Amino acid sequence: MTETQNGAPDAVSEEQYTFGMRQLAAAVNIITAAKNGTRNGLTATAACSISADPPQLLICVNAEAGAHDLIRDAGSFCLNVLAREQEDVAKRFASMDGADRSERYDLGDWTELTTGAPVLQNALANFDCEIVQQITAGTHSIFIGKVVDIQTRDDGHSLIFGEGQFTGISNQSD
Ligand SMILES: Cc1cc2nc3c(=O)[nH]c(=O)nc-3n(C[C@H](O)[C@H](O)[C@H](O)COP(=O)(O)O)c2cc1C
Repeated sequence: MTETQNGAPDAVSEEQYTFGMRQLAAAVNIITAAKNGTRNGLTATAACSISADPPQLLICVNAEAGAHDLIRDAGSFCLNVLAREQEDVAKRFASMDGADRSERYDLGDWTELTTGAPVLQNALANFDCEIVQQITAGTHSIFIGKVVDIQTRDDGHSLIFGEGQFTGISNQSD
C-alpha cells in the first residue's frame, strides 16, 4: 500500500487490482435488455443479491459497454445465470469468439418474461428486473433491479469464471 502526502492510504494500481480480482471466482451471467425491438447484452460476473424481501439484486456495467445505455433507457434487464454448457454464449457476449456483435443472439434460444428483456432458455436462473436505482461508480453503473419475474431450473451446474478461465465446480460432473 502506498500513501498520499497527508498519510491517507492511496489506491492500489489497476494491475494489482486486476491480478487480485482474478482470484475471485464468480458465476457467469448474461445481462440482457431490449427496447423498441433492439436487443443488446453482455457477459458479466459483477452481479449479486441484495435482499429477498423486497427481491432485489444489483449488477455493475461498464458505461462503455455497448448495452449500457440500452439497459438504462429500457429501465429493465434480465440477469441470465449460465449453466456449465453455456460457455459458448458467455464467450459470444464478451466478444471472445470473433463473432460480430450483431450475432450475439444467434446462439441459444431466447424468449421473454414480463419486462421484455431477452431470456435465455436453459440458463440456471433468469431474473427479470425493473431498474429501481442507478448509481454511478467511476467507470461503471450499478443498476439495482427489483425482480418482477423469474424462471429457474434445478438440474444444472454452474458456469464459473476463475483464475482467468471458464470452468465448473470441481465436485460436479457435467
Ligand atoms: C468472465 C467475464 C466477466 C465480465 N464481467 C463484466 C461485468 O461484470 N461488467 C461489465 O461491464 N463487463 C464485464 N465483462 C466484459 C464484457 O462482457 C465485455 O466487455 C463485452 O464485450 C461488453 O460488450 P460490448 O462488446 O458490446 O461493449 C466481463 C467479461 C468476461 C469475459
